[in-house]
Amino acid sequence: MSSPSPSGSAAGQLALQAVDFAYADGRSIFRQLSLTVTPGEFVVLLGPSGCGKSTLLNLLSGFIQPDRGTVSIDGEAVRPEMDALGYVFQSPNLFPWLTVLDNVRFGLRMRGDLTPAAQQQRARQYLALVGLADAAEQFPHQLSGGMRQRVALARALAPEPKLLLADEPFGALDAITRRHLNEELLRLWSQLGQTVVFITHDIDEAVFLADRVVVLGRAPQGIDTQLTVDLPRPRSFATTPRLPRFLACREQLMDRIAHVMERAV
Ligand SMILES: Nc1ncnc2c1ncn2[C@@H]1O[C@H](COP(=O)(O)OP(=O)(O)OP(=O)(O)O)[C@@H](O)[C@H]1O
Ligand SMILES: [Mg+2]
Repeated sequence: MSSPSPSGSAAGQLALQAVDFAYADGRSIFRQLSLTVTPGEFVVLLGPSGCGKSTLLNLLSGFIQPDRGTVSIDGEAVRPEMDALGYVFQSPNLFPWLTVLDNVRFGLRMRGDLTPAAQQQRARQYLALVGLADAAEQFPHQLSGGMRQRVALARALAPEPKLLLADEPFGALDAITRRHLNEELLRLWSQLGQTVVFITHDIDEAVFLADRVVVLGRAPQGIDTQLTVDLPRPRSFATTPRLPRFLACREQLMDRIAHVMERAV
């Protein structure tokens, strides 16, 4: 089995420059928002409900367009169909009529650059990476919530995107499964080296995963604070949350979030 490597692994720089965005009702969500994510960086977006996290991810993926400013990947204006992009949603959104294997193959078939045999092999490779090699022939309704979310992760990763965008992918899971998937995600990321932008409401999850946490204030404030999480890797839930630096980052973020929420009242 070949070892995974993201396509065109030399890059994956994401840049928003001076972005203005309002929905059709005219309410401004971002004004002059700028953010750069460097290749291979793991950035977590944190902020109160309604502050614009999903909107920001949809701008980064090209699903929606800014009113002003630019969004680019490696200098090229972003388009949702770019091979560079992988997206994991809050709910797994699997096709119930397809097997686990065919769900993971789906994105590969859309791309059309692999033979059916190569698609099968790639899909099986990524199912094995997320620990689901034995579930390939099952259907989504036969899986637990955590397994479904792992299939969704395998589906997003199988095309080997340079950029992984994740919108609270583990938000609906119990704490134990969530921790396990956080560790798995970091293990995959350390092998694959993608640029990641990951949304969560959970401060512990943010600190555990991130190289950098970006806190968003109430719309249209945009970025309130950024915190570099200089904790050693590899990280594990058995040891990392006990480190004084973890606790310090957590405290700083709690203060910041409390401040952002206060200003909203
Ligand atoms: N399609 C839409 N049309 C109009 N307004 C929208 C639309 N989608 C989102 N909004 C509004 O834009 C703001 C930001 O929404 P967004 O979904 O980005 O927030 P969020 O930070 O992801 O929140 P949550 O943490 O609850 O998921 C909210 O006030 C929301 O009501
Ligand atoms: Mg959201």
